[in-house]
Amino acid sequence: MTDTTDILSIRNVYKVFGEQPDTAMQMLRNGATKDEIFEKTGQTVGVFDASFSVKKGEIFVIMGLSGSGKSTMVRLLNRLIEPTAGTIELNGKDITGLGDADLLDVRRKEMSMVFQSFALMPHMSVLENAAFGLEISGVDKKERNRRAQEALEQVGLGEHGASYPHQLSGGMQQRVGLARALTNDPTILLMDEAFSALDPLIRYEMQGELIRLQKEQERTIIFISHDLDEAIRIGDRIAIMEGGRVVQIGTPEEIMRNPADDYVETFFKGVDVSKILKAGDVACPTSGCTIRINGSVQPFDSANNDFGYLLDNSDKLQGIVPLTGLDAAQTNVDHLMQQRVDQHAAVYSDDMVKDIVKKVANAEYPVPVIERNGTFCGVISKDRLLQTLSHT
Ligand SMILES: Nc1ncnc2c1ncn2[C@@H]1O[C@H](COP(=O)(O)OP(=O)(O)OP(=O)(O)O)[C@@H](O)[C@H]1O
Ligand SMILES: [Mg+2]
Repeated sequence: MTDTTDILSIRNVYKVFGEQPDTAMQMLRNGATKDEIFEKTGQTVGVFDASFSVKKGEIFVIMGLSGSGKSTMVRLLNRLIEPTAGTIELNGKDITGLGDADLLDVRRKEMSMVFQSFALMPHMSVLENAAFGLEISGVDKKERNRRAQEALEQVGLGEHGASYPHQLSGGMQQRVGLARALTNDPTILLMDEAFSALDPLIRYEMQGELIRLQKEQERTIIFISHDLDEAIRIGDRIAIMEGGRVVQIGTPEEIMRNPADDYVETFFKGVDVSKILKAGDVACPTSGCTIRINGSVQPFDSANNDFGYLLDNSDKLQGIVPLTGLDAAQTNVDHLMQQRVDQHAAVYSDDMVKDIVKKVANAEYPVPVIERNGTFCGVISKDRLLQTLSHT
């Protein structure tokens, strides 16, 4: 994320499907539930009092069980579905009142959508398929082919413009869909389960592609997913929906540490925490095993610590020494420096836990965690690692 400006904000948005939304809205205001309203009136509450903001340049993932309102939500954002109540602001401008022409303009320039299964035209080449959105918008052929070719290159299909859809794999076809959405160079990309139909390996690859595209182009992406691993991998923040409500919004780590309710907790149960937590999140503060070496040696506790961590005046890690048999009163800085283990494995506080498991498991000492500038921030022992990984 490069910017923290809100690009899209929605406030108190509702969507009731049915003939008498007013009746349903009244019942909602009086505290009726989605199920009660459906039983009594046959109306379906798709989205219920949703308010949130999406920041410029982030990947914002919307998650939830089937029927929780994800697709309805994302279609409300570009008004493919009209909200029953509430406001939707794009760059601070309310778009709920826009007429058809202005709305079309918003969809062309600001928000493109990629769907789960993308309908490619079988008789049109890959280039023509990618250019199709522009063709509908009336862009002339030379210009639309140029932009389509550029978009195909962005998704790794630059060489395939002349092929036909049936000659492409499912993953490649989905890339054509992504390229079509990119031809508009939209500020916001809306993706509704865009990768769900893909094989796991291709899906993983496409996730990587999306992360890359987002980094390079600083595009804002709103991505719907069923899949928690996917949400965690690509999402800067995740919104969790249940029965039309947004029950929690936060970074994967925030949600995992502090789930709003049982539903959210169940979602995160069994999740691989090593993919969410960073070394700095699990590092333990040390007591008695950091040794400041500024000319003299400050007291350390060799009875309770097997290893000591040498820090200079500005808390930068200078080395690790075995403490067994060492007496603080009878040692000096030179001696300590000579006793250092030859090589030591420090990890950075922003390393993902999954990437440091091996190091921690193989090191003979609790692995020191440092900031990028070298400042010591704690250690991770094998016990600590196991404790972290056994979160259920
Ligand atoms: N056009 C519609 N008419 C009536 N009810 C609808 C309509 N579209 C959606 N709904 C209802 O709104 C609720 C939310 O549906 P939505 O499609 O948004 O869920 P979803 O979270 O996208 O589910 P899935 O994961 O299965 O795609 C459901 O109860 C659904 O039946
Ligand atoms: Mg859906």
